[in-house]
Order: sequence, then structure tokens, then C-alpha cells
Amino acid sequence: MEIEPFALERWFAEVEHDADLMLAESGVRPLSPDRFDTDPEDLGYVIPTAGDPEFRAEVGALHDRSAAETLFTCGTQEANFLAFLATVESHAVVVTPTYGSLSAVPRSLGEVTEVPLAEGWRLDPEAVVGALRPDTDLVVLNNPNNPTGRYHDAAAVRAVYEACADDDTHLLCDEVYRLLAEKPQPPVASLGPYGLSTAGVSKSFGLAGLRFGWLCGPEAVVDAAERWKDYTTIAPPRVGQHVARQALDDRAEILAANRRLAADHRAVVADFLETHGLGWSDPDCGVNAFLEVPDGFDGGEEFCRRLVEAESVVLAPGEAFGHPDHVRVGYGLPREELEEGLARLGSFLERA
Ligand SMILES: Cc1ncc(COP(=O)(O)O)c(C=O)c1O
Repeated sequence: MEIEPFALERWFAEVEHDADLMLAESGVRPLSPDRFDTDPEDLGYVIPTAGDPEFRAEVGALHDRSAAETLFTCGTQEANFLAFLATVESHAVVVTPTYGSLSAVPRSLGEVTEVPLAEGWRLDPEAVVGALRPDTDLVVLNNPNNPTGRYHDAAAVRAVYEACADDDTHLLCDEVYRLLAEKPQPPVASLGPYGLSTAGVSKSFGLAGLRFGWLCGPEAVVDAAERWKDYTTIAPPRVGQHVARQALDDRAEILAANRRLAADHRAVVADFLETHGLGWSDPDCGVNAFLEVPDGFDGGEEFCRRLVEAESVVLAPGEAFGHPDHVRVGYGLPREELEEGLARLGSFLERA
């Protein structure tokens, strides 16, 4: 089994540590640990290792699934990884552009057909259905989408689900940004027996350091994922589970604040782009957007490299998403940092 380098993570590893401002973080600014009880009383493994059954029942219920259909993981990343190991043997269809691991891991397990989003970064169910093959094991969506910030509409997702179900194929949707929507759509795991949802507390809640996520879906897939988990991380993080439970209990308040932040910051970025005449993906959920690289640069990577060298501000090159004519901005960071980052980006653009 071979795995391609995760281009986005490699880029961050190269530049993030020494840069002044991270304008490419894809989640909402971290919450302070002060607002939680961070003492789980003991630091043994979580037992049972699938995660606390009562808490799994609560998270499962949010997806119309039971505790047995819910597995707690180390972040959404592990939930996706285990779901791929559990399902992909021959062929997967992956809607792109998307978060790198959602195409790279299936590609290491089987063949992948990438289906690009249509004009306006729209999900085109017919294009997805057209890519299904008799040996397709899994279709992979990320909704709301990273890097575009587009929230594909519920009817299009349901049409993809129905086609998958007719075809005996699972549909996995990475929904790590879903709870940042003012009106979250039904999770894909709730659409029927073939639906799988992955998510966690990193992005919508601003709790990436907890490394806490989940997979919800049919019991057979969750069981197969758990079998693999015995060889990856064994159990979810104990502190992560303890704090995530409090965060979910407080979700009305936390999510309302984070949705406000996302909406306010989107408006700040929209104004900035209008002033500088730059086009974008017009995000409708979350804190990510895809910006068009202005004339005068060879592509996103050259733009990001020159920007970080000149202004110590990190953006993410579109090359990491198969779109060299774009860069990804993340605007979930604290307001002063966003304003400072945009001011420096503005100076850079004026000199370019
Ligand atoms: C779509 C998507 N899925 C998963 C992850 C990783 O999430 P976690 O920190 O919960 O592992 C990210 C991180 O950027 C992401 O954008």
C-alpha cells in the first residue's frame, strides 16, 4: 500500500511554524480550555474502546443512528481513514476539489474516479451517477466543501444518495463543517442504510487539539472500521472525549458564536476582495474560500511562496487541491489576526 504525500500538510510543515500569520487554517479559532472541565479523573484508555456508549448514543442520535452504529475516533481524519479501510476494495468515486485525504486514501486502496464540481462549484448528481461502476464500493463527498466553502444543496445530495443505494454502494460524506451552517442539512448517515457521516469537533467547535471525531453509519461498516481501529489508535483520546461531551452539551451557545464569527469574517473578506478586484468561490458555509490567483503569477504555489516571503502570511496553494489557478484562504482566525493578515495581503497585491 502506497500513499502520496499530503501536499497541504507538507506545505504547512514547511512554512507555518515560522510565519507570523496563518491565513489558511481551515477551522474556527480555538476555544479556551478555561471554559471546560479538562480533568477526566484518570488517564487510562477509554473503555469500551469504541467510545463511551451513552455518549455514542447521543452522537448517533444526531445522525438517526444508534450507539452500535457510531464509533469515536481520533479526529475526523481517523474516522475517514477507517471508513475507507472498511469499504474500499476496488473503486471509489470522489467529488473534487476536496480535502486531500478524501481522495489520497481511497487511491491507495483501489482505483479512484474524480468527479469535478460543476460550474459555480456545484454538485452535479448526474456526473456522480455517470461515474458509478459495477465495482464501485464508495462515493465520497465533503459537504460543506473544503476548499470552496460551498454547501451543496440537500436535494443534490439526496439524489446522489438514492443512486448509490440503488447501486448497493455506500455514500460517505465528510461533514466536519456541517454544524457551522445556520440550517444544517440532514446528515448523510440519516438518509438511509447506505449513508456514512464523518465529523468531529475540530472545525465547527474550534477544538482541533482534542483530536475527537466520529463515524456514523451502518453497523457492518462501523464494525469493520472498529476492527481496523484496533490497529491504529485503539481508543479515542480520553481528554478529548471528556471535553467533547461538554462541548456537545453546550453546542447551542458555542455554535451560535462560531456561526456569527464565520458570517462576520466572511463579510470582511468579501469587502477586501471587492476592493482588490479578486474573484472567489462565494462560500456559503464555514470559514474556507477558494480565491482566484491574480494575473502575474505562475500559479497558486508561486503566489503563496512570494506572499509568505514578503509578508510572512500563509495561504494554501490551489495545487494542493488540483487547482493551480486558486489559493485557499481560511478566515476563522481571531479578528485582529484576520485584519492584519488581509492588510499584509493587500500591501503585497499592491506591489505585485
Ligand atoms: C474536510 C476535512 N475533513 C477532515 C479534516 C481533519 O479533521 P480533524 O481535525 O477532525 O481530524 C479536515 C481538516 O482540515 C478537513 O478540512
